[in-house]
Amino acid sequence: MFDLISKQDEDRPYFDTGGVGRSHDFYTGEEQHRREMERIYGRRWLPVDHVSRLKEKGSYTTLDIGTGSVLLLHGDDGIRAYHNYCRHRGYKLVEEPAGKRQSIVCLYHCWVYDRNGSLKSLNGTYFDHFFEKEKNGLLPVRTEIRFGVVFISFSDSAPDLDESLGEFGEFARVYELADLECVQAKDYPVASNWKLVAHNVNESLHFPTAHKDLHRITDFDAAGTYDLKGDIVGAWQAIRGGYNSVSMTGHSTRTPMRLVPEDDLGRINWITILPNLLFGFTADYVMMQWVWPESPGTCYVRHFWLFHPSETAKPDFSHEAVFALWDKANYEDWELCERTHRGLANPMWSPGTLSLDEEVVSQIDAWVARETDGSASPRPVAADPAEATEATEATGTEG
Ligand code: FES
Ligand SMILES: [Fe+2]
Repeated sequence: MFDLISKQDEDRPYFDTGGVGRSHDFYTGEEQHRREMERIYGRRWLPVDHVSRLKEKGSYTTLDIGTGSVLLLHGDDGIRAYHNYCRHRGYKLVEEPAGKRQSIVCLYHCWVYDRNGSLKSLNGTYFDHFFEKEKNGLLPVRTEIRFGVVFISFSDSAPDLDESLGEFGEFARVYELADLECVQAKDYPVASNWKLVAHNVNESLHFPTAHKDLHRITDFDAAGTYDLKGDIVGAWQAIRGGYNSVSMTGHSTRTPMRLVPEDDLGRINWITILPNLLFGFTADYVMMQWVWPESPGTCYVRHFWLFHPSETAKPDFSHEAVFALWDKANYEDWELCERTHRGLANPMWSPGTLSLDEEVVSQIDAWVARETDGSASPRPVAADPAEATEATEATGTEG
């Protein structure tokens, strides 16, 4: 068991809300969504990817957030994020979620950018002397890497990233997160508010009713919530006796990661970096599940499966049983989230009572409410980082 677990205050008060859920507007309202996009997604450091997906020069991934889109590119100075549109007339440059290119060609009038985001060629677009090529590269988005996770921020004054991560580093160290290999990623569109997905992936109370395969392997009764420092929340859950892997078979010949303490070999540690990246840390693999708001009633989930390179290098390596379990569980979950959204969309919804097993649900909502109640200063996405200050004053943002 990690030391940090034993330091928790067992007598702490549960539930900022007194154990009651939140309003119809909080989960489905336009105004709440606007505030989340402005004050959370437009202001904070956001975890967006894993470095193993961007290993080689020219490799890229994209992510859509709100109405915006970001391109992560591995250039000559490492991984950098850019706004994913052409500087000429705004054509969205890359639609594919991942790939490798040494230059990015805009398909509208054929401007070409190199892997460092610089404008390389105008391909015949005629300008008079006023045009400055060097000022028309892709617009950068702030980028940082911690523990193998790529973070971006649209704000020039995001809260301190290391402070926000708090005790996350202890989990990242034990599960060797920076060294793992992402062997698969899959995107899922979900017709629900993003917070309902964040709730769902952070509680196991629904396992017996929704996930027969997961429930067979994991014990929702042998579980507990962490009280962690930083903008992170988490819980642990036991793997049932006789099983050693959270997968369709429940068994794996993979060697457990060497730093995982004895007591955690038979557990999943569910840790979320707020607002939107959940980790399921197990001794033989790590899953990351990340949810991005698109509108008050729609979001995207990107699920990553990560394994230790000493295992992926083996000729008989397969993640099939792990993928099969989660892919099925994911569709089971989206149905729950979508139908819950349809219930909460009813203006007559009256907030219900959360159980002690749903403490993380309450923690997520309390954090979002704190971030959006006006006490944290809004930092909209700036069109140009150099103009971030003026943009803050002048515009709102939808990401
Ligand atoms: S919009 Fe890209 S080259 Fe014109
Ligand atoms: Fe679930």
